[in-house]
Amino acid sequence: MRDKILILDFGSQYTQLIARRVREMGVYSEIQPFHYDLKRILADPPAGIILSGGPASTLAAGAPRVDKKLFAAGIPVLGICYGMQLLTRMLGGRVQRSAQREYGQAQLDILAASPLFAGVRDRSTVWMSHGDSVAALAPGYAATARSADGAIAAIEHRTSRIFAVQFHPEVAHTQEGKKILANFLFAICDAPRAWSMKNFIAEETAKLRAQCRGKRVVLGVSGGVDSTTLAVLTRRALGDKASAIFVNNGLLRLNEEREVLDSLRRRLGLNVTYIDASRRFLAALGGVASPERKRKIIGRTFIDVFYAGLKDFDFLIQGTLYPDVIESNPVQGPSQTIKTHHNRVREVQRLEKQGRIIEPFRFLFKDEVREVARLLKIPADILNRHPFPGPGLAVRVLGAVTPAKLEVLKQADDIFIAELKSSGCYDRVWQAFAVLLPVRSVGVMGDERAYGQVVALRAVTSSDGMTADWAALPPEVLDAAARRIVRRIRAVNRVVYDVTSKPPATIEWE
Ligand code: XMP
Repeated sequence: MRDKILILDFGSQYTQLIARRVREMGVYSEIQPFHYDLKRILADPPAGIILSGGPASTLAAGAPRVDKKLFAAGIPVLGICYGMQLLTRMLGGRVQRSAQREYGQAQLDILAASPLFAGVRDRSTVWMSHGDSVAALAPGYAATARSADGAIAAIEHRTSRIFAVQFHPEVAHTQEGKKILANFLFAICDAPRAWSMKNFIAEETAKLRAQCRGKRVVLGVSGGVDSTTLAVLTRRALGDKASAIFVNNGLLRLNEEREVLDSLRRRLGLNVTYIDASRRFLAALGGVASPERKRKIIGRTFIDVFYAGLKDFDFLIQGTLYPDVIESNPVQGPSQTIKTHHNRVREVQRLEKQGRIIEPFRFLFKDEVREVARLLKIPADILNRHPFPGPGLAVRVLGAVTPAKLEVLKQADDIFIAELKSSGCYDRVWQAFAVLLPVRSVGVMGDERAYGQVVALRAVTSSDGMTADWAALPPEVLDAAARRIVRRIRAVNRVVYDVTSKPPATIEWE
């Protein structure tokens, strides 16, 4: 299929961003590790190949490389940062260690007309992040841009359609980055604009129908955007043959199980089996204070409950997303994005071997799922729900979880969220919630001194949850939430606001 762009990953933190940028321009992109076999590439040749950046130095022993024949395959190539140094070195040029690592914004000066820079201003700001630089060009190559300090910033071998840049066109700080990538995709690779979520829905619907017609299909739903969108897509494709299972783990927010069931059943017309396993989860968590152990217990219990709830079925549909399947950061080892979450446990692997797992979203990024949701007309209040972690309120009751503590937290969280919604702040933050701290503090209630519980409020802005800033909520909103919490919940006499960003903190407290 000559309509995709293949991205070979050398471990850059921006690899996924490259893939997203390409897709935003309507071209399907796929990430594979740098050592992806050339034979496999040539068996299904892409319209173009992008070599990502990476943390390694091409000068180091055992530095990651590609098969040299890749450059003679007649497929257009764009090397970015490490990619540029690698192809220079492999094709006979020279790379040198710079005295100083160049990191941050830099000025790009274009030296010569190049199809990569058509319509790009002669001078613009780019984002650099590298230690090495190209000292001598490979034979046949020409330098087409420099940075202000004189370093070679772009090279090309026009007849081989091989181009490379030292900076990162995929990063928003590179002013002309989108234009440069578009030039590569459309002027150089002649890639078709065939990737859109509308096409995706049509294709996946057809695939589901072909594979599952007349079969029994189940999926898990949580009320979150991914599983809800998947359930709606599946229902559209298969009608009542698809059924969804919703497990209440007792760690949901106030009235959440009622609201989720109402949304899924009444508003979206889905066929949902409800399993209330809250007692079982709380019993399993009894007395356990360690965050890691709490997570493990919840994960395990979920699997036991969910698989016991699966009766007769032919296929299990999962909402696995692309970041969970990419073998990212091949240089530094499997990236942290590969977590053994419940989509990859033993039970699933067994079904997978039998060909009974279907993952329609396995090539989608989160923002693409949101776009699918919009096209499927999933109501905005469901679409814009804040992310909620699988272990639920268990990671927000610090220390051992008890029903009484959960009740306090549910009330506090509900008050905070209601304040955010009524003040119009809810949709402006990525995530907001309350945390029940495992400390007590002295206060005065009426004439008496009280030794009460402390609630922390947290609200963050973020684009993907990987990094986050604490949200500067209006003081009057915080004030109203805090007053209502201490007035309504007797056990709580103090409310604090979390003003740390991620990193160094995480979004959740446990
Ligand atoms: P952290 O706390 O790591 O969270 O900064 C980043 C995002 O992931 C969510 N989160 C989880 N989601 N299972 C999940 O499904 C988990 O165990 C988990 N832990 C954190 C968190 O709410 C935030 O959106």
